[in-house]
Amino acid sequence: LFAGQTDFLKGVVAMSGLPPSDRIEVCFAGRSNVGKSSLINALTGRKGLARASNTPGRTQEINFFTLADSHYLVDLPGYGYANAPLAVVEKWQKLLKQYLSGRQNLRRAFVLVDARHGIKAVDEEILSLLDSAAVTFQCVLTKADKVKGADRDAVLAQVRGALAKHPAAFPEIILTSSEKAEGIATLRATIATLI
Ligand code: GTP
Ligand code: MG
Repeated sequence: LFAGQTDFLKGVVAMSGLPPSDRIEVCFAGRSNVGKSSLINALTGRKGLARASNTPGRTQEINFFTLADSHYLVDLPGYGYANAPLAVVEKWQKLLKQYLSGRQNLRRAFVLVDARHGIKAVDEEILSLLDSAAVTFQCVLTKADKVKGADRDAVLAQVRGALAKHPAAFPEIILTSSEKAEGIATLRATIATLI
């Protein structure tokens, strides 16, 4: 699946711009700067495919990537970012929520959580939305290269505890580092089982 061609298809700023829902897709959601775009680049092995940046709020559209000409990978704008004009933030957040609750070909939402921080209140809001929409989601911890040993166990325990309260949560947590390629093969294999 990931050995095939991956390409940028389009950036979408309104629900009316979504491509037809005739292909199965998976999306990557999470707080601003958590590493969504970097993870897509690591998964596809193409560094500049999704634009990543140190500045939170980098991805402001819903970006569609074609996977093996038969599926979509979807890079979402981040949430929980307060440093842009309110009207702009509200526009993305509305689109993000509409997408997450109303996309019929969305097979699974991967919710990315920084391995240094665990699940926060802003994440909970999104997880509850996914419960309501009955969209299965799976938690992917990012930036694992920054967390070692006992701190890893602690964040895994925190996340496991938080997920237990969400009926739409898939229980397995995947620990990843886009920088060190940790967990990337596992995530690829998981996606391959879904589509
Ligand atoms: P928005 O589009 O703004 O919501 O951000 P994003 O979630 O797409 O994050 P992005 O991939 O742009 O990465 C944000 C920052 O985190 C960048 O400076 C990345 O280099 C860094 N980063 C991403 N993944 C990793 C990782 O696995 N390890 C480390 N150490 N840094 C990472
Ligand atoms: Mg991004």
